[in-house]
Amino acid sequence: MDSFPSFLTSSTTLVFLLLLLFSPCNAAKHGTFGHHRRPRSASHNYRDALTKSIMFFEGQRSGKLPPNQRISWRKDSGLSDGAAAHVDLVGGYYDAGDNVKFGFPMAFTTTMLSWSVIEFGGLMKGELQNAKQAIRWATDYLLKATAHPDTIYVQVGDATKDHACWERPEDMDTPRTVIKIDKNTPGTEVAAETAAALAAASLVFRKSDPTYSKLLARRAIRVFEFADKHRGAYSIGLRPYVCPYYCDFSGYQDELLWGAAWLHKATRNPTYLSYIQANGNTLGADESDNTFGWDNKHVGARILLSKAFLVQNVQPLHDYKSHADNFICSLIPGTPSSTAQYTPGGLLFKMNDSNMQYVTSTSFLLVTYAKYLTQSLKVVNCGGAIITPKKLRTFAKKQVDYLLGDNPMKMSFMVGYGPRYPLRIHHRGSSLPSVSSHPAKIQCSSGFSIYNSQSPNPNILIGAIVGGPDQNDRFPDQRSDYEQSEPATYINAPLVGSLAYFAHSFGQL
Ligand SMILES: *[C@@H]1O[C@H](CO)[C@@H](O)[C@H](O)[C@H]1NC(C)=O
Repeated sequence: MDSFPSFLTSSTTLVFLLLLLFSPCNAAKHGTFGHHRRPRSASHNYRDALTKSIMFFEGQRSGKLPPNQRISWRKDSGLSDGAAAHVDLVGGYYDAGDNVKFGFPMAFTTTMLSWSVIEFGGLMKGELQNAKQAIRWATDYLLKATAHPDTIYVQVGDATKDHACWERPEDMDTPRTVIKIDKNTPGTEVAAETAAALAAASLVFRKSDPTYSKLLARRAIRVFEFADKHRGAYSIGLRPYVCPYYCDFSGYQDELLWGAAWLHKATRNPTYLSYIQANGNTLGADESDNTFGWDNKHVGARILLSKAFLVQNVQPLHDYKSHADNFICSLIPGTPSSTAQYTPGGLLFKMNDSNMQYVTSTSFLLVTYAKYLTQSLKVVNCGGAIITPKKLRTFAKKQVDYLLGDNPMKMSFMVGYGPRYPLRIHHRGSSLPSVSSHPAKIQCSSGFSIYNSQSPNPNILIGAIVGGPDQNDRFPDQRSDYEQSEPATYINAPLVGSLAYFAHSFGQL
């Protein structure tokens, strides 16, 4: 908010414009005049949205909160997590509006936050430290969850009992059941995603904390080996615990490819390149599959592996440029192979439940692929239609702008951003009075009178992005509507990267 052109006072704007008159190249590069002419792009404060998108993670924290906790209506919770299995599993994140710690989406969230920092951390300025803190809050936990070889603690909390209550995390009294995978009960999807998260985060901390980075990388290697060697779906072995919440529908092949891709990037060990070459065809999905979210990482792996070819010139991975192109072509409306659905207002629409996660994750892939294409002076050819990096960024920006308020409802889907945003989000802590304002315990079922009321949530979960509008751009803003009104860590994580790009590109696409 400090140095963004639209916030300059009129006298400094004058000086600014005079300076630009004498540096035309600079003006063209940053598109500053265009920015001032276009009220649409000036109407969004991407920096403010970036700050808030990261702050949200503090509201999802489990464990002992630090003195610099900014979302201050949240207090310590889950301080005995892990005790049921005689291990320390304090910390980490609640995935969404409940009080369970689900390892699978937590790991994916960590991977995407890390990828955001790897690609766009250089543009995050004052927010870089906060983004790294958000990652470390997860990796400190994932290190605890993977402390014992050939074992990963993949969940804390009995999801069914938790979901039968509407209570604050600070009050929760449902069983903190500890769920693990091991050689006898493997969970390749969750193990490989955890390896991806650790590997990606090791790159984030490589320069600023080399010791921590090495610890993360070593653990990633061990966890990936376990994932690959003991194959089996946790969605089968642990079905009663993890389904229907984070049951993996896409199989574990996508996580193996994705995990290997991250390990290749983090370790530069040729083993992983050989692994990708040997298994890429069996692990890759059919090319029409363009859904990217906590369950399915096929297209994420394609874009990530395309970087190795495009930017780092890893020739054996040259096929991933066309794999990535096929994903792009399936997405862009009006090209021959386009299959994606959009709402009348222009929002990518994949699913009724938590659709916005596909919007944020897909937009991230578009901005990221545009970066790789720009670096390698390439474009995408969709059956004769040439798609430039600029077109990809314009497309991603339209999705992000819709999310921030340019939509038929004329509202932002990020809590606390803009003049109108969701008031009754499906989130226990946000909807119940805070511990400071109401110190007495609120029992399991007592919370439902508030759940069923029309009153706005008393605690603003700054930066939370909800599931979003339906296929006709409608949003009822009802607390009971978890499909549309629940926030989740994996909705926010990829948006952190896109917002960093748009916040500091000064309207340049
Ligand atoms: C999504 O919602 C629409 C409209 O309510 C409904 O017709 C459709 O069956 C839903 N789709 C799924 C997969 O639930």
